Amino acid sequence: MSVHAAARPVSIHDLREHKERGERFAMLTAYDYLTAQVLDEAGVDVLLVGDSLGNVMLGYDSTVPVTVDEMLHHLRAVRRGADRALVVGDLPFMSYQASATEGLRNAGRFLKEGGAHAVKLEGAGPIVDLTDRMVSLGIPVMGHLGLTPQSVNQLGGFRVQGRDRDSADRLVADARELDEAGAFALVLECVPADVGRRITEAVSMPTIGIGAGPHTDAQVLVISDLLGLTAGRLPRFVKQYADLRGMITDAAKAFSSEVATGDYPGPEHSY
Ligand code: KIV
Repeated sequence: MSVHAAARPVSIHDLREHKERGERFAMLTAYDYLTAQVLDEAGVDVLLVGDSLGNVMLGYDSTVPVTVDEMLHHLRAVRRGADRALVVGDLPFMSYQASATEGLRNAGRFLKEGGAHAVKLEGAGPIVDLTDRMVSLGIPVMGHLGLTPQSVNQLGGFRVQGRDRDSADRLVADARELDEAGAFALVLECVPADVGRRITEAVSMPTIGIGAGPHTDAQVLVISDLLGLTAGRLPRFVKQYADLRGMITDAAKAFSSEVATGDYPGPEHSY
């Protein structure tokens, strides 16, 4: 249950106050109206329409092919289901990297057409300046460091980042720059727990870990992993809180079998 049980919508300032008070909060991904409604009612503070949409909902191999229009379609659905949660939209690969102008326009579309309260950008370097510009123009930005899946081809696979001293120091420095540029929160993906702790202590914005250990200010998981819907081997950081794949399979089999035997529909289901 959320530490913010009141129905008042969650703002980016509430998240910073959580950090200041030492209260941890949860973020989950959502891609559709119904799931957003359930998660919102469950008191999840932040819903991320992640570009993991590509893998989870659209069957792509990575997040690289995801387009702005695909994101907007799902963002609008999530926004319709969320009355209280802060809704963050992930700007997809090459919707903000080629130029600041394009990034600003696409972020604007996420807020104006998608109803997002904020956008998420991966990386540092030139993204720090872009964050600064977006924030100064009224677009709240969530950063994302560590394993940044949009750069999977550059990183050479889905690997833990920041394992050696130099790369860990680089991540801490990047996080500080994003903090100074005005990002309101930072996702840390697949970094050693000690790096998660160092960054969390180094910045004033809340850190949201996924495979970043127990010391971050918040945690995020991909909803289909948490619910046990995802097929195949899951990353070590995933904790499965339900077995929906098994439940759906059983329900679908039971329905098929009752249709075959004529047990469904019964008199109580007929007019
Ligand atoms: O796209 C996504 O789901 C994400 C989370 C893993 C943080 O970026």
